[in-house]
Amino acid sequence: MVRKPTPDDKFSFGLWTVGWNAQDQFGSASRPWLDPVESVHRLAELGAAHVTFHDDDVVPFGSSDAERDKILDRFRGALDETGITVEMVTTNTFSHPIFKDGAFTSNDRRVRRYGLRKVVRNVDLAASLGADTFVMWGGREGAEYDSAKDLNAAHDRYAEGIDTVAAYIKEQGYGLRIAIEPKPNEPRGDILLPTVGHALALIAKLEHGDIVGLNPEVGHEQMAGLNYTYGIAQALWAGKLFHIDLNGQKSIKYDQDLVFGHGDLFSAFATVDLLENGFSGGGPRYDGPRHFDYKPSRTEDFTGVWDSAAANMSTYILLAERARAFRADPEVQAALEESGVLELSQPTLAEGETLADLLADTSAYEDVDPDEVAARGFGFVRLNQLALEHALGAR
Ligand code: GCO
Ligand code: MN
Ligand code: MN
Repeated sequence: MVRKPTPDDKFSFGLWTVGWNAQDQFGSASRPWLDPVESVHRLAELGAAHVTFHDDDVVPFGSSDAERDKILDRFRGALDETGITVEMVTTNTFSHPIFKDGAFTSNDRRVRRYGLRKVVRNVDLAASLGADTFVMWGGREGAEYDSAKDLNAAHDRYAEGIDTVAAYIKEQGYGLRIAIEPKPNEPRGDILLPTVGHALALIAKLEHGDIVGLNPEVGHEQMAGLNYTYGIAQALWAGKLFHIDLNGQKSIKYDQDLVFGHGDLFSAFATVDLLENGFSGGGPRYDGPRHFDYKPSRTEDFTGVWDSAAANMSTYILLAERARAFRADPEVQAALEESGVLELSQPTLAEGETLADLLADTSAYEDVDPDEVAARGFGFVRLNQLALEHALGAR
């Protein structure tokens, strides 16, 4: 039996996840529209703490101001009734055809100005709902053809857009931080800021980069053939892991958005181990919501929708229990020691030691027998097997 989640677990869901009507490239919707108010109630019953949404998930694109106010009042009512809070808000700059060539990086300047207005309006909404994080997923910021974009100008415009919004957040005194969500492709053939590393490099060039970080998604890094845990680890190390999108993906293919753990389960174990227990030698920790961005498969009816929502949380709870047991196991601690994992925290030069000292230290080089040092086995396979046995609940 898996214990039931509680708000202390900080589980969070995008309203577009459970609310997806399962329309895809090849077929029409297999489920009817789901009222966001109902989603808030159902997610609260299942034990979630927060919801997140795109502007258009709650207020349909093109609604009048009066309609918008009415819808938002009703939505706020559901939040008050359930105790669910909004921790993150994001903007839909990809569905309407106006954004077919992107928003911040569209070749059409009218679209860039329109996109910026839509985003800024949504920043005001995010702040009014008390969100901490404002996600930017630039799904349409890219192209199918290399000749279609001046890639230098595109990065300039991307940085301009993000910096303009960040400056506005500061000016207004909002308690919001921007989190960029990388993705290598889909829906565009190639998307700008395809991986965590690319986004970190852009942030380093921003004027207001201090309030800009990352929202890495499991499936997106894996679509690029990358290791998600390595990605969030570098973001953490850089002080930039502002938010996460957890889901499941089976290798390099279209964005599958499976339930967390229904893709690469052992990689999910490593992710949860890092999120729950931190780095083995200490260091920065992630303290934010455990946010799921998955899609209930098109085969599912509403029972399947709520079962799959619960499955994300159950998988996380199970992996967190296994990861705790893994760290607490004295055999694992001994294996970590033997593998040198804990020795890596020790600086290579001693305190106060200079490069000149190292150059003068014959024990570091001249007296070293490389073959003797190379003879050491690291025991990583045994350590990994211990992790696997814990992940499978065999220990
Ligand atoms: C996707 C993305 C989106 C974003 C969302 C937040 O591949 O479709 O993951 O779901 O997370 O738009 O901005
Ligand atoms: Mn995705
Ligand atoms: Mn996502």
